[in-house]
Amino acid sequence: MKIPSSTWQHAASAAAVADSQPAPRVQPLKIGPLVVDPPVLQAPMAGFTNFAYRQIVRQFGGAGLQATEMVHAKGFLWLENEADELPERLWGVAEEARPLAVQIWDNDPATLAEVGAKLAHEFRVSVVDINFGCPVKQVTEKAHSGSYLLRYPDRVGAIVERVVAACAPTPVTAKIRLGCSRSSMNAIEIAQVVEQAGGAALTVHGRTAADFFSGSADWDRISEIKPHLKRIPLIGNGDLASPAAVLNAFARYDVDGVMIARAALNKPWLFAQVKAALAGEPVPPDPTLEDERSLLLHHYSLVCERFGESKGTVLMRKYACCYAQGRAGAREFRTRVSKVASPAEFHLVVEESFPR
Ligand SMILES: Cc1cc2nc3c(=O)[nH]c(=O)nc-3n(C[C@H](O)[C@H](O)[C@H](O)COP(=O)(O)O)c2cc1C
Repeated sequence: MKIPSSTWQHAASAAAVADSQPAPRVQPLKIGPLVVDPPVLQAPMAGFTNFAYRQIVRQFGGAGLQATEMVHAKGFLWLENEADELPERLWGVAEEARPLAVQIWDNDPATLAEVGAKLAHEFRVSVVDINFGCPVKQVTEKAHSGSYLLRYPDRVGAIVERVVAACAPTPVTAKIRLGCSRSSMNAIEIAQVVEQAGGAALTVHGRTAADFFSGSADWDRISEIKPHLKRIPLIGNGDLASPAAVLNAFARYDVDGVMIARAALNKPWLFAQVKAALAGEPVPPDPTLEDERSLLLHHYSLVCERFGESKGTVLMRKYACCYAQGRAGAREFRTRVSKVASPAEFHLVVEESFPR
């Protein structure tokens, strides 16, 4: 089943340019040998950016580079050795279209290097990204990984250096926050460490780990990093939710690229809208309710194909809730869809909430 992109594109051609803001001059960015065009990246999001979601984003188009959910390196090796299995989060990675970045996390340089090498040389992914930004306790306090490592620039350097050597010539990138807390913002230092260790790009979420998701992303702080990087591109991330916000980010801040996460969960077509806006072209309108309905059912079929109807239906509840966000009747839809337990129930709720 295909996303009804033809209907969507037809509607797009009639749409007016959404913003009066002129498109800033934006160049494709280079991550090692990889050209990312447009320089707008789909962020990794654990629990969400799986193969099904990535296919939907890819069919709409507009994301210069897509990323998987973060994959635990130690978990990867354990599963391979003990169960001869791959992590669920690598669903689709071997065969899906490129470019594709796979994100890994851990705190052990050798483990990360071993997994990075497999991803680079066996899976032939386009980019291996290392997570130094996750603020979740299970990753920081329990596993001393993610944003916990921002306290230890030497360790970050050792990890990047080792993974770069293991993955070459596949580029290795890093994703960080501004620091662990407001009183210890060391993103500039970490950026230099990543560059010196051979990293090919740096993405910065403009919050600290202690901020979690509160307040707003601090784009001035992201921008301040740029003059300290000599060779590698800087990708800014945080709170970009519309084509206008992306145009504004490129116009006001010193970044080579941007990354979008949450806003594209309920609008997987956002990247296509952003791409058009950056090119100074008419911005495609949001899909109609009927198109969204087909999209939701397409997403559901992909998830059920992989996980079976029972687990697929449960998993789909959270994705379906994202689609409803910001629409009339969203609360009722969310209440109903978060309880569905069978394909029949799922289809009924969708039919009634997204009428033809
Ligand atoms: C549900 C969820 C899961 C996330 N998982 C990851 C992850 O696996 N790896 C990562 O680097 N960042 C992860 N993030 C952070 C996002 O990639 C991004 O940095 C953050 O949401 C800010 O961008 P936004 O304002 O566009 O959402 C996650 C965020 C959310 C909301």
